[in-house]
Amino acid sequence: MNTLDRVGALVLAAGKGTRMRSPVPKVLHTLLEEPLLGYPLSALSLAGIKKIAVVTGSGAESVERYLHSSWPGVEALLQADQKGTGHAVKVTEGWWGKLETLLVLPGDAPFLTSEALQTLMKLKEESNSAATLLSFEAENPTGYGRIIRRATGCRIVEEKDAKPEEKEITEVNSGIYAFRVDALSTVIGLLENRNAQGEYYLPDVLPLLSERGFRVEAGRWPSPEDLSGINDPLQLAVANRKMRDRILTAHLIEGVKVMDPETTWIGPSVKLGADVRIEADVQIWGRSLVEKGASIGSHSILRDASIREDAQVLPFCCLTDCEVGSRARVGPFACIRDKTKVGQGALVGKFVEVKNSFIGEKSKVPHLSYMGDATVGRQTNIGAGTITCNYDGKRKNPTRIGDNCFVGSDTMLIAPVTLHDGCFTAAGSAITEDVPQGALAVGRARQRNIEGWARRKGTDSRKEDS
Ligand code: UD1
Ligand code: CA
Repeated sequence: MNTLDRVGALVLAAGKGTRMRSPVPKVLHTLLEEPLLGYPLSALSLAGIKKIAVVTGSGAESVERYLHSSWPGVEALLQADQKGTGHAVKVTEGWWGKLETLLVLPGDAPFLTSEALQTLMKLKEESNSAATLLSFEAENPTGYGRIIRRATGCRIVEEKDAKPEEKEITEVNSGIYAFRVDALSTVIGLLENRNAQGEYYLPDVLPLLSERGFRVEAGRWPSPEDLSGINDPLQLAVANRKMRDRILTAHLIEGVKVMDPETTWIGPSVKLGADVRIEADVQIWGRSLVEKGASIGSHSILRDASIREDAQVLPFCCLTDCEVGSRARVGPFACIRDKTKVGQGALVGKFVEVKNSFIGEKSKVPHLSYMGDATVGRQTNIGAGTITCNYDGKRKNPTRIGDNCFVGSDTMLIAPVTLHDGCFTAAGSAITEDVPQGALAVGRARQRNIEGWARRKGTDSRKEDS
């Protein structure tokens, strides 16, 4: 049996986060468009931890909603009154009591890596301790619990309870722990709240364990920035840049070419293949995927977009919830959204909007068009200015266009309507009826020229010139 099967992780996220000065619970504030809470949850999943619960309190409903939609495997446990970190662990004993190892970590430490978690677990195994925590050397230790190392084990004194000489200590508690559950169970009920904040402190279990002959260990993590928390909007803004740099660096090492890292934003869940080329001022968010050899032009914004191999996204495109097939070309100035799929080698050109549509292999929509709720076959050409009139004021109606069609410029396709394979429409047509295979549809008024009209109106330009 995999030893990780008996490991669980409790993410503490019930606190108010007063310093954010916002009605939104702290862990739902976003870093690169992803709630803070998503980061430790990703690190835990990456470290192979499957049993995860989040302690909720302030704004519990919205945190639960987020978990439900984005982390269906993660449980939410309510701590109705927030009486401290020790209290949070105590009231959830029903959930962790039968595990072998319990990890406890805060929900507001987004830089935590799976490597740090793995090191913590390894340290716990190797030292055979009942409680292991990660500490770090803080440049400015203010606000953190200080680590007091003694021959009998270590304990932690909180900032507000620390004596002046204890405040000088720069080794601090990260708030990230690994406990042997049997040992933790024997002491979690013994915590008291006789301290400056009147709270039940989780770190107070450490001396309780030491007194009972259990081993307690603090391992110094060498990169303090991995463990730093977010408490206010300033730290959040700084973290946003830092996280952006960290993500970009990882992609650069993997072979992504980024023209201007200073102006490039890539979200934490984005996947980029090797040799992807990204021009300046690009944003890529959500679950976007850009496969190898593809390029993203300047000022383009992608959200939940899949760009297949060797596709080209030219500058100034907005691509949301869509797929661009391999070797396809889109933009400049294309807006593609709502489950649209652009087929292999197809073209969606300048000032074209495509919504909830399928553009078949090697088909072209080169200029100034709107395709909404449309299906276009292969090798079809859609002339400039063609528009699907898909909305009748009540309903969105479909347009179907077959293979090898030629839709003349400025055709209005009044949906629902079907153009069968190989048909043509005359430029400027309003198409209200289906067009049979191979036919030419002409849906426009015949031109007539009225001779001498300008002279009779007295607006003859030749006269004015003389
Ligand atoms: C805590 C540690 C401190 C450590 C620091 C690291 C305690 C008493 N102190 O201090 O030693 O240096 O983290 O950042 O644990 N929470 C709950 N329920 C509660 C109270 C808090 O879920 O009743 C959650 C908070 O939402 C937060 C986390 O626990 O995510 C830490 O709580 P916080 O009040 O921020 O503790 P610190 O004062 O930062
Ligand atoms: Ca904190």
